[in-house]
Amino acid sequence: MDKHALTTTHINVLLPSTHLTKYKHYIYDKVLAYKQFIFHFTNLRAGNMYIESILKARHSVRAFLDKPVPTQTLNSIFESAQLSPSNCNVQPWHTCIVSGQTKDNLKAKFIEALMSGAAPNPDFNWAAQYSGIHRERQFGSANALYSSVGIAREDKKARQMAMVRNWQFFDAPHAIFFTMDKYLDIMGAVDLGIYAQTLSLIMAEHGISNCMQGALGQFPDPVREILNLPDDRGILFGMSFGYADENAAVNNTRTDREALDNAVTFFN
Ligand SMILES: Cc1cc2nc3c(=O)[nH]c(=O)nc-3n(C[C@H](O)[C@H](O)[C@H](O)COP(=O)(O)O)c2cc1C
Repeated sequence: MDKHALTTTHINVLLPSTHLTKYKHYIYDKVLAYKQFIFHFTNLRAGNMYIESILKARHSVRAFLDKPVPTQTLNSIFESAQLSPSNCNVQPWHTCIVSGQTKDNLKAKFIEALMSGAAPNPDFNWAAQYSGIHRERQFGSANALYSSVGIAREDKKARQMAMVRNWQFFDAPHAIFFTMDKYLDIMGAVDLGIYAQTLSLIMAEHGISNCMQGALGQFPDPVREILNLPDDRGILFGMSFGYADENAAVNNTRTDREALDNAVTFFN
């Protein structure tokens, strides 16, 4: 979608005044609709399968416009995500979407926890230390992220500050906490992962970007308190989402993938 470069930059140049925010949003909507039309049309003409086109164009987004997703669109997206498959159709997800004041209250609580030096205490086991090739790939993705915003490898403080952005939801207008009954453990985690990716693909179809975040499962207590969740409900991970700020350097982060031969084996 990036190729069709009618972006918010153009809109900001044409309509620089902040008084014109309403009109900017209107024009942004029209530009988005135009870009989606061109994107669909180009892919249909090329005979591509739509999901493949989305997968090739997608990437995690960590800076968003101050523009909420319309309620009708939200309802439609989450309605479609309900079609996600799950083991024995148990549908273990309970999805909590936070916006507005609730999101701001949570952000304040998270920052309070971080400032107090509280240690992460996730409901589920995120403690595994990556090793070998997994550690290399972990470093690769971190380096891609930090170099996109000009943070040097040795600048620990700047890296920490970039990490804190997770708990500020990257200034997204909405965030999700993927929750499930704690007893489900790995059985539920598989289903929640599939659900989250289904959701992410549907969002992409609506021109909405996101970043999945293990970070949002690291301090479950304030989430449980503010969202009034029962003790037996665990918070597995989260996601911030909204319309991408295409001018933000952090959104230039790109990661690569392993060659097929090293990831997939066909047995005949
Ligand atoms: C389960 C899961 C948890 C993630 N947690 C975080 C996170 O806490 N913070 C973050 O910035 N990115 C997070 N990511 C995004 C990954 O870093 C990203 O998907 C990966 O580097 C590949 O890049 P891409 O999504 O741009 O293709 C997470 C992704 C997944 C699937």
